Amino acid sequence: MDNILKVESNSQVDAVAKLAREIWQQHFTPIIGDAQVEYMLTKFQSSKAIASQLDEGWEYYIATREKDYVGYTGIVPNVSCGKMLISKIYVKDRIRGSGVGNLLLDFIEDTSKARGLNTVWLTVNRYNEDTIKWYYRHGFVTVDEVKKDIGAGFIMDDFIMEKKI
Ligand SMILES: CC(C)(COP(=O)(O)OP(=O)(O)OC[C@H]1O[C@@H](n2cnc3c(N)ncnc32)[C@H](O)[C@@H]1OP(=O)(O)O)[C@@H](O)C(=O)NCCC(=O)NCCS
Repeated sequence: MDNILKVESNSQVDAVAKLAREIWQQHFTPIIGDAQVEYMLTKFQSSKAIASQLDEGWEYYIATREKDYVGYTGIVPNVSCGKMLISKIYVKDRIRGSGVGNLLLDFIEDTSKARGLNTVWLTVNRYNEDTIKWYYRHGFVTVDEVKKDIGAGFIMDDFIMEKKI
């Protein structure tokens, strides 16, 4: 049985940071290298970083299968633009392809619609090819591209994708 729970407690924040570390090291090391993965984990997905994102209005949700934590999403509503940013959507390696991503995306779209937001959007590394295919398959289109200097000599080299809902 799969479920979604809202991240509210410190221990849930720690659980997201742990999931992020496991998934990012596995998935992104071949794409961007371990030094950039480590830098980005510290800057964006440490417990401290996640807690301050929650203070700024971000929302995190964990996907559970039975009692295991198997994935997570971080979303940022922007009511004035009518858009929901999907900042993070990640599923553990061994669980991928079994519906948890669909569950998270359906949940994000339902949550967005319930708040009157009519677009979901995200940025994705241009070399993250399987994931880009997954987004296309789920109705996203590429609307732009962006290169962002994130410090320490590292660049995020992304496509911007969006989906009307
Ligand atoms: C992208 C991701 C979140 C999707 O989650 P998931 O649990 O693997 O996805 P699901 O199992 O719910 O998706 C299943 C559906 O997508 C399809 N699918 C899965 N992988 C696919 C791929 N590479 N290309 C096209 N379709 C794909 C399946 O056929 C299935 O379709 P259906 O629902 O019509 O039967 C997950 O694979 C992931 O964490 N990837 C690595 C991390 C990442 O890059 N995250 C996003 C960073 S921007």
